[in-house]
Amino acid sequence: MAILELEKVSYAYDSKKVIVLDNLDYTFENGKIYAITGRSGAGKTTLLSLLSGLTNPTSGKILYKGQDIKKQDKYKYRSNCVGVIFQSFNLLTNLTALENVMLSMDISGKKFTDKKQYALDLLYKVGLTDDEINRHILKLSGGQQQRVAIARALSYNPEIILADEPTGNLDLETQDEIMDIFKMLAHKENRCIILVTHSPDVAKQSDINYQLQPFRKNTPKK
Ligand SMILES: Nc1ncnc2c1ncn2[C@@H]1O[C@H](COP(=O)(O)OP(=O)(O)OP(=O)(O)O)[C@@H](O)[C@H]1O
Ligand SMILES: [Mg+2]
Repeated sequence: MAILELEKVSYAYDSKKVIVLDNLDYTFENGKIYAITGRSGAGKTTLLSLLSGLTNPTSGKILYKGQDIKKQDKYKYRSNCVGVIFQSFNLLTNLTALENVMLSMDISGKKFTDKKQYALDLLYKVGLTDDEINRHILKLSGGQQQRVAIARALSYNPEIILADEPTGNLDLETQDEIMDIFKMLAHKENRCIILVTHSPDVAKQSDINYQLQPFRKNTPKK
């Protein structure tokens, strides 16, 4: 069964003058990696924002496990069901990797028996060493920061991970290592991974590719 479904979803900015997404019917299932591709400005980040529950579609519906997310507790959806990795990581730079993950666990409101051990296990899972885990974010490389961002997105154990250009600034080898983490999360842990990417190689390593076409007309459809 689909975990997320778009039903004729459209989105327009600026009081409906700029249509960005037009009538999309996409389905997302557990256990798979989805690549969202398309030219700059095609609406990829906008689509992630809708899937994360931050924004509502202008028309159409987004279903989470068959229920319209608009009618669900948005805060609960965002803090429990989806983990989001932003292009800029949004990590707190004055904290260590470990503190970033533990803070996110606190914010989720979930109870953990051994909070620190849980955070450490997540950071080990994405391949960081003890030394890196206790370093401030700005003293980590881009690829290491990306791993922290993934660990943080996993902190409340969401079934869905959304990531905007997760391999954008990484060399090919590091890109493959990050993709291996996403493959493990999808194929071994049965999560649904949705990646926005400009990389044909990342799209090829994904299970399904949805290609967004830029919407040319900037007037609303009748
Ligand atoms: N807040 C906003 N108000 C008005 N228009 C916006 C806003 N945010 C984005 N847009 C427009 O919507 C379109 C889609 O933007 P979006 O950021 O989703 O594209 P994208 O596919 O993620 O592009 P990129 O690959 O460059 O990140 C663009 O034409 C953009 O200019
Ligand atoms: Mg974008």
